[in-house]
Amino acid sequence: MPATVSDAALAAAVDALRAGLLVGFPTETVYGLGANARDPAAVARLYAAKGRPADHPVIVHIVEAADLARWTREVPPFAHLLAARFWPGPLTLVLRRATGVRDAITGGQDSVAIRCPAHPVALGLLHAARAAGIDGIVAPSANRFGRISPTTAAHVREELGNAVAIVLDGGPCDVGIESTIVDLTGPAPRVLRPGMITGAALAECLGAPLGAADATAPRVSGALPAHYAPRTPLVLLAAAECKTHAQARLAAGDRVALLASAHTAQTLGAHAGLRSVTAASDADGYARTLYANLRALDAAGCALIVVEAPPSGAAWHGIADRLQRAAQGHTLLPD
Ligand code: TXA
Ligand code: MG
Repeated sequence: MPATVSDAALAAAVDALRAGLLVGFPTETVYGLGANARDPAAVARLYAAKGRPADHPVIVHIVEAADLARWTREVPPFAHLLAARFWPGPLTLVLRRATGVRDAITGGQDSVAIRCPAHPVALGLLHAARAAGIDGIVAPSANRFGRISPTTAAHVREELGNAVAIVLDGGPCDVGIESTIVDLTGPAPRVLRPGMITGAALAECLGAPLGAADATAPRVSGALPAHYAPRTPLVLLAAAECKTHAQARLAAGDRVALLASAHTAQTLGAHAGLRSVTAASDADGYARTLYANLRALDAAGCALIVVEAPPSGAAWHGIADRLQRAAQGHTLLPD
């Protein structure tokens, strides 16, 4: 069960939002860095705190699907279907923006991304904010640009320090990786960022096949190859190579961090230079702990992180996506 926070803590967070300050808060996916979506100065502060380029749009979090019409100029039938089935939950919808929705939120695009999160603290904050006249909270993941997303309140403090006025502590996030993003502005719905809601589940709900992502797809900063990267170089390898690669590096005197199945970790055995974390064998459990595991391994002072490739299969798609990006990150990230 996620932790809850007091009404007084929620009231203080809403006061901070009204003052144009930033609030860290838990969602079921990852922690968000929240700002009043209608306050351009607060949104500018948010981009500065994250170190995020201005053309990378953010997600507007709303308290219920009925508020979609405040942010979008049309709510197509597909949006109603998906919202009814998956909200509150780890799904973001990209829709045509309403007039008055600022370029600062959309990266200058004609679309806006909207999500209704399921975490009780997020919903409590959104309720209290709306009662105070704030009908949307923009919230990117509360990490510095290109870094591992936070899944605890302590991670948010590590990432952003005093740039964030208040961090609401709702315990560790349950889903663990960012929401699935679906674009509903084109001829067919398409997934822009895979997550724990699978393409198959979306297609089944819609009763229609999904379109393929293409070059005209709206920009998704999470789709930069270098996203979600630890500082330590990370390699993603199949089980057998995982073992031989780790052994070779250990033999060469390197300290090695390993994220692998219990079986692979066992066959490698104990070694003074090896810091090993056993990954869950189910996709939900793996995702829930992925970012905390990567943070711990990143902090272990090793020369590299070796990650055993997760199983194939639709349930693992979002996880595989994040790992592939993390594996590319150390060569591409300016950091
Ligand atoms: O699970 C989540 O979605 C978390 C929690 C805090 O809600 N938020 C999150 O935000 O992951 P962020 O900013 O780290 O990622 C938002 C993604 C970016 O990849 C951004 O490019 C995409 O949403 N996005 C936002 N507006 C968009 C738009 N109008 N069209 C296409 N992509 C958009
Ligand atoms: Mg992010």
